[in-house]
Amino acid sequence: MDLDGKHIVLGLTGGIACYKAAELCRALIKEGASVQVVMTEAAAQFITPVTLQALSQRSVYTSQWDAREANNMAHINLSREADAILIAPCSADFMAKLLHGNADDLLSLMCLARPIESVPLLLAPAMNREMWAHPATMRNVAQLRLDGATVLGVGVGEQACGETGDGRMREPAELLHDVIAFFQPKVLAGQRVLITAGPTFEAIDPVRGITNRSSGKMGFALARAAQEAGADVTLVAGPVALATPQGVRRVDVQSAQEMLQACLLHMDSAQVFIATAAVADWRPQVSTDQKIKKDGSGQAPLLALEENADILATLAQSARAQSGALFCVGFAAESHDLLAHATAKRQRKGVPLLVGNIGPATFGQDDNALLLVDAQGAVDLPRASKLSLARILVREISQRLPGAPL
Ligand code: CTP
Repeated sequence: MDLDGKHIVLGLTGGIACYKAAELCRALIKEGASVQVVMTEAAAQFITPVTLQALSQRSVYTSQWDAREANNMAHINLSREADAILIAPCSADFMAKLLHGNADDLLSLMCLARPIESVPLLLAPAMNREMWAHPATMRNVAQLRLDGATVLGVGVGEQACGETGDGRMREPAELLHDVIAFFQPKVLAGQRVLITAGPTFEAIDPVRGITNRSSGKMGFALARAAQEAGADVTLVAGPVALATPQGVRRVDVQSAQEMLQACLLHMDSAQVFIATAAVADWRPQVSTDQKIKKDGSGQAPLLALEENADILATLAQSARAQSGALFCVGFAAESHDLLAHATAKRQRKGVPLLVGNIGPATFGQDDNALLLVDAQGAVDLPRASKLSLARILVREISQRLPGAPL
């Protein structure tokens, strides 16, 4: 699980979003974390400590005068054992307190007393849209970031007060993702990564087309892993029914030609290109505007095909890639003789790194096994979830980028 062994202090401050904190607490635990809840007096007006105690299976702390701690220093003891302190919801008032170093209740005292280098502070703001947009709040957010806190984004939409806008707390699943991403090493910080994923669809007529069984899962997992590693990610996706990974820019395309155009548009600002898409090799020479009807002769219409451009080879041969400014990674979906085919394909496509996998064994699955082939040889990545493999692959790519430590 993604948070195995992590100990999170979950702080709740006053706000209606406290009801979402109960689900967040549960989600953190389900992902392997242990959670110690600390609540302000205001938070306890919105949700009871009993609820959070039952969910976290630990007694909840609400007061700096709590006599349960032998040394009577809950603020020290609780903060020292945390891998991170997450304040969700974090009210406008609490942000203002943090900013000034106020410490008149257990939670603010604990935040101030935390070892700033080793215990990161994550804030999930939650407030009315006017409060969020107020210059005082914006100023506080900027200063808290300078002080080293990670201020997470806010949700947009209907608010408990009946107004609509920015400022509501992100959903528990989104915050869970933020916390998981926070702990991933930032090996691609500052890099722009362009990824193709999924199949393409080559129209024959308005209702039919040529496509393939690629699910897009490996490419989407890579987009998530690259984003978690700090990259700015653009995902060019063929027709798949997958949710866009959080924080990733998605460009939807249908055909190989559209996919090529999207890649050409985005390649100039990218430092890494990863081609996971199962691009159709051929498209119908003519795609009719009207549905092709049976003519009663019993004869099937002849379908003339023409070859699609090779997107990976096109980008790999660009001046940017040739000068070393764009690192290109190809995938090879094979049915047999993986090493031989992947090695030959790496040379044919002219890419420094090629990732081989057995297509029929992985299409649509949540796991995969990979073979990394570069100029030095081949390395097996044994069967694991696509997300775990994607995280390893992201690290492998980062180690091959210009300027990476030897
Ligand atoms: N690829 C591409 N554009 C194409 C075909 C393939 O960008 N028109 C990319 C894929 O995204 C993948 C790599 O090239 O990264 C290899 O794809 P694959 O389908 O395995 O290889 P092909 O080039 O189609 O070769 P073959 O079908 O002969 O195995």
